[in-house]
Order: sequence, then structure tokens, then C-alpha cells
Amino acid sequence: MGHADLRAHPVVHTRLTMALSPAPRLALRGDLLDFTGAPAWGDTASAAVRFRPDHWLLVEGGRIAGARPASEPLDASWERHDHAGRLILPGFIDTHVHSPQLDVIASHGTALLDWLDTYTFPAERRYADAAEAQAGADRFLDALLAHGTTSAVVFATVHPVSADRLFAGAEARGMRLITGKVLMDRHAPDGLRDDVEQAEADCRDLIDRWHGIGRLAYAVTVRFAPTSSPAQLAMAGRLCSARPGLYMQTHVAENVDEVRWVRELFPEARSYLDVYARAGLLAGHGIYAHGIWLDDEDRRVLRANGAMIAHSPSSNLFLGSGLFGWRAAEAAGVPVAVASDVGGGTSLSMQRNLADAYKVQAMAGERLSAWTALHAATRGAADGLGLVDEIGSLQPGAMADVCVWDWASGPVAQRRHAVAAALHEQVFAWMTLSDERNLAAAYVAGVPRHTRDPLPC
Ligand code: GUN
Ligand code: ZN
Repeated sequence: MGHADLRAHPVVHTRLTMALSPAPRLALRGDLLDFTGAPAWGDTASAAVRFRPDHWLLVEGGRIAGARPASEPLDASWERHDHAGRLILPGFIDTHVHSPQLDVIASHGTALLDWLDTYTFPAERRYADAAEAQAGADRFLDALLAHGTTSAVVFATVHPVSADRLFAGAEARGMRLITGKVLMDRHAPDGLRDDVEQAEADCRDLIDRWHGIGRLAYAVTVRFAPTSSPAQLAMAGRLCSARPGLYMQTHVAENVDEVRWVRELFPEARSYLDVYARAGLLAGHGIYAHGIWLDDEDRRVLRANGAMIAHSPSSNLFLGSGLFGWRAAEAAGVPVAVASDVGGGTSLSMQRNLADAYKVQAMAGERLSAWTALHAATRGAADGLGLVDEIGSLQPGAMADVCVWDWASGPVAQRRHAVAAALHEQVFAWMTLSDERNLAAAYVAGVPRHTRDPLPC
């Protein structure tokens, strides 16, 4: 392999499954960027942006302890990782992604319902096997970290072992993970259906073993209304109230054919969301993927129940599902986070999804700022999940889930970065032109879990 090849395929260092403990005192040098609140739509000079160029980010015992200008000396008690000239952000939070669907990312030629039948369901069947589930969970969690995503809300498969292995893998890596076994007792092929009784027992077992353990939480995971019988939806609704802090994740109003099908299956419901409301599912802390075809009453109900929308722009474009109305959700007070929805989505890279989110809004004549976009992948997502004290920012006390990024990679991005004058211009160009190849290091609770090069100590 020649030099050029080596640069195209940099050596990646992963230290993922060992129980590493953080350095007691760690200082990371770089340009620190995070948010102290939610930027207003369209405000490119928001006071909620906290930018601290060339600072040390101080980490003690795996948590953020503060920051100070790089010009101020640090005493010898600090282990230093000098990333000067790089951008340091809170680790990204992907609020909707399917672990088994790495196997079907970038599958050609179908919209949602055919895509599920043709590609997704066959791939998910493999996860009945514990060894497949284990390997898939490791592959997926490593991939998240290699894309700068340190926390995620994940759909496993219908098989309990798939959720179990994700929890175990996240625990080994110290990651904040919210997941659950998929509920699906009809309109799915053999090998991918559960039944109400067994599903309830499996969920309760997983909740007992994992919910609230370290940084893990259980999400009651209704795939979507068409694949659960009314009895299963009612059981899931009961589960949502079974233990404090349970999440509930599902898909809603993604695709017009899907919405029509739900209307046929549940004629008594006022809307697609109302199917979930009638089953008691709004009792869980709700994470609703897509929400493209909601109406004002749906948004009012989401808001009233403290639910959030996981907007999945690359998926919506790829599957041709539609253009999400971010402003309508915002006007209704519903938190919006950005998600990859891989494998309907085409990349785990949050920058790529944010760049797609900008284009989706542009199609509606709206201009998404880099601040609203990045907030939706960090602090805004954490807020929607009720985890703002733990993840999504660089505030003291938060877990040190932190990623270090090259500002620019390659001559086009480097030139664009060099001529950008204002901070928003620089960050917007970074968000639009960068991806996982810009990632230098990902720290979880102060431990470097993914590094591209040897750390610059
Ligand atoms: N609706 C039901 N299942 C799925 C899925 O796996 N991906 C997406 N994008 N939508 C869904
Ligand atoms: Zn999805």
C-alpha cells in the first residue's frame, strides 16, 4: 500500500470493549463549541452559542469540570491531549437509528412499505441468532463512535437478544443508550413476529435487567401501528406506565401509503398519532420518528405529553417520504431532534443528516441555521430526552462525551474554511462539507473510545 492509500485509509484505533477508566484529570485543547440554550430559528448570531476558541476543556472523573484559555498554564496533575486548531463539540445524539439496518443501508429502488418487505425484514431475521446479534451490536456501536455519535436511541429487532447485546455493548463502552426489543405481532414475515404474552414477558425481563443501569434506559419499541395488533398496542401502553423513566419509541406519519394503511386498520382513530394515544402509549417518554404527515391537533397532543420528534432528513429524502415541517413543530412547542434513521437514512454521520435537513427546509423556503441544526443534534436532543444535565453540552457536571473534529478536510473545504469570516459561516460550511472522515477522536465519559491517530499528548 502506497502513502496515498494509507492516507485514504487512516489507521483507526479503537479501544472499545475494555473497561477503561478515565484519567483522573484530563485536559483537551481545541476550539470549544456548544449551546447554553435553544437558538431562535434563523438567528445566525445567537447568544445561546458558546464558542471558546483555543481553550482547554477540563475533565475530572469522566465529567466536564470547566474550561480555561489555552494561554493559562495547567499544572502537572492534568493529562493533556492537545488538539489545538480542531473543533471540539459535545458528542452527537442520534435519536432514531436501527442497529440491524447497517446491513441494508443504500438499498435501491423502493418507498417505505416495499423497502421494509424487500430489504429490511429479511435482514432483521438474522438477529434471532445470538452470535449475529452480538457481532451486529458491536459493529453498530463501533460505527456510531466512528461517526462522532456517543449517545443514541436505537431500534433493535423483535428478538430480545438483539436488545440485550446492544445494552451489554453500550455498557462496555460507557455509552448512553436507549433501546428496546421491537414489538411486532402482525403484518411481518415468519421469524419476525412475537405475540402479546411472550413480548410482554421479554420486555419486562429486559426492563428488569437493563433499565436505569448506569447510562442505559429501556424504550418500549412499537415498530409502527400496522405491525402491532390492538391487543399488543394496549399491552405496550400498559408497559409504558410500568416503571418510571421508560421511553416509548415508534414511527409515525412517515409516508402517505403508510398513513392510508393505518387509517384502514384503525378507522376509529382520529389520526395516526391517535392510534398510539388510544393505546396509552403517550404515557411513555415519547420519541416519534418522522412526523411528516401530522396535523395541528397531533402536534398539540405531542406537546401536551412531553414527546419529541426525531426528524430523519436523509431517510425522508432517500425513501421519498416527504418534507418535514420543522417550523410547524417548533410553533407547536414540540422538540425536534435530528436523527439518521439508518438504514432508511443514508449515513450515520450527523453532519450529513444536518446538511440534508438544511436542504429539506430550503425546499419549503425556510433556512435552517447551523445553530438550530447543531443544537438539534446535541443539547436540543438531550433536552427532548430529559437528559440535558448528562449529555449534549460542555457544561460542568455533564458527562465528558466529547468529539474532536478537523475543521476542514481536503482542499475545497480547507479553502472554504480559510475564507469564512464569521463564526456561523465557518460552522455552516463545516456542517455542510464535513463527515466522519473529519473525526479525530471520540471520548465517552472522558475515555477515548475512538481515535484516528495516536493521541497528541
Ligand atoms: N416504519 C416501520 N419500520 C420502519 C423502519 O425500519 N424504518 C423506517 N424508516 N420506517 C419504518
Ligand atoms: Zn426508523
